[in-house]
Amino acid sequence: MINRRNALTLGAVGGAVLALPTESLMDLAFGPSWTVAPFARALPIPQVLRPSAVRIDADVYRLSVGESTVEIVPGVRTKVLTYNGQFPGPTILARQGRTAKIVVTNTLTSATAIHLHGGNVPADSDGHPMHVIEPGRSRTYTYPNIQRAGTLWYHDHAHHMEAEQVYRGLSGLYLIEDAWPSNRLPSGAHDIPLLLRDADVSRDGELHWELFGQANRSLVLVNGATQPHLSVRRRRYRLRLVNTANERTFRLRLSNGAEFVQVGSDGGLLPRPVRRSEVTLWPAERADVVVDFSGSADGTQVVLENLDGESDATRQIMRFDVSGGHEIDLSSVPATLTAAPERKTPTVTRKVELSFDALAGTFLINGKSYDPDRVDFTVKRGTTELWEITNLDTQFEIPHSLHLHQIQFRVLDRDGVAAAEWEAYPKDTVAVPPGTTVRILATFDSPYTGVYPFHCHFIDHSSTAMMAQIKIVP
Ligand code: C2O
Ligand code: CU
Ligand code: CU
Repeated sequence: MINRRNALTLGAVGGAVLALPTESLMDLAFGPSWTVAPFARALPIPQVLRPSAVRIDADVYRLSVGESTVEIVPGVRTKVLTYNGQFPGPTILARQGRTAKIVVTNTLTSATAIHLHGGNVPADSDGHPMHVIEPGRSRTYTYPNIQRAGTLWYHDHAHHMEAEQVYRGLSGLYLIEDAWPSNRLPSGAHDIPLLLRDADVSRDGELHWELFGQANRSLVLVNGATQPHLSVRRRRYRLRLVNTANERTFRLRLSNGAEFVQVGSDGGLLPRPVRRSEVTLWPAERADVVVDFSGSADGTQVVLENLDGESDATRQIMRFDVSGGHEIDLSSVPATLTAAPERKTPTVTRKVELSFDALAGTFLINGKSYDPDRVDFTVKRGTTELWEITNLDTQFEIPHSLHLHQIQFRVLDRDGVAAAEWEAYPKDTVAVPPGTTVRILATFDSPYTGVYPFHCHFIDHSSTAMMAQIKIVP
């Protein structure tokens, strides 16, 4: 996130691309555009998309990329980009081992590409920035779902356009479920996705887009709604927390001090549950947590707080209202969730340096801007590599992260301090705060070869070329 302080610094030194427009200065002076009555609206749950065909070899889904209007602020129509008219897009429920084919039609006037974030997919279905769907055209993506069950999400990835198009609405949830569920974690109506993001809605109801406009994105949306409430019974719930924001980080806590029992990370279940009083999510990170409301009396109101918020609207992001009494709860959180993955020995070590060139006003990986025709690293399929990722920017203190397509990796340590259990594995996006070095162990265990991007997932950075790519060879 570029916060107000360093956004101003960047504006002063960063040249045209980072210059702070007058409107931002107005907002700094006058505060956010909207004050919305908190917790008035019920939490919307994204619809689960039905397959348009169930074939012997695959479930077929259709997504139409287009434009619609929605009420982000109650009573105010705002134009957004949508999948099948929905904001955020519909949830795709895939099953492990069963192929999903997604037929995408682009009705926009700009190109789009869909990337399955966290997915292990063939290179031609990865939504590579150059593999775009031109206006009026269609493309079919094949997702084989040959990976563990987990909370994935899909989003736009068109070259230089992804930051704006994701911001305008092009993202949705993609859940891979176990073919044979082996646990009794809360499920069905008690398994609730919470897609978190922010937005800058101007006084005329327009969704205002501005690259590096983080300081003005003063509304936090949960599943597309500002400060909603959810009625819950006295029982356990599984919450799928997904940070789909361009640049905002969330530090989440429950106002009654109840704990989150984290059962899953980016790419699936953790080996065992971890009890946490706070959960931090950087852009694109996910946490599956179980929250137990059985000890709360009817009438209790529990606010999901974001300790990093700068205003009430961004601090009190939704409320759980306990009502309806006890419910028979057959769910449980087992002491062991999955087998811990085997730790392999790396055969290659690489350095990845994340930096900001203040003179050019650009973000760089190993000193370079993204070139879709350049292969930065050639990786042999099946091998394990150690990547040392350093955020060199101590001057402006700009946070960066690193996301690898295609695989889930293990985070070893940050500045020599071993990664916490909940961050160790399976991860596809890792936080790299200014001035720190994070080491990850990446096993390229996908059967597919080809070119895949890796990038910072502050997508205002990646869409201005803070991206590089690997070529996986047999
Ligand atoms: Cu979620 Cu290449 O990104
Ligand atoms: Cu990705
Ligand atoms: Cu970055």
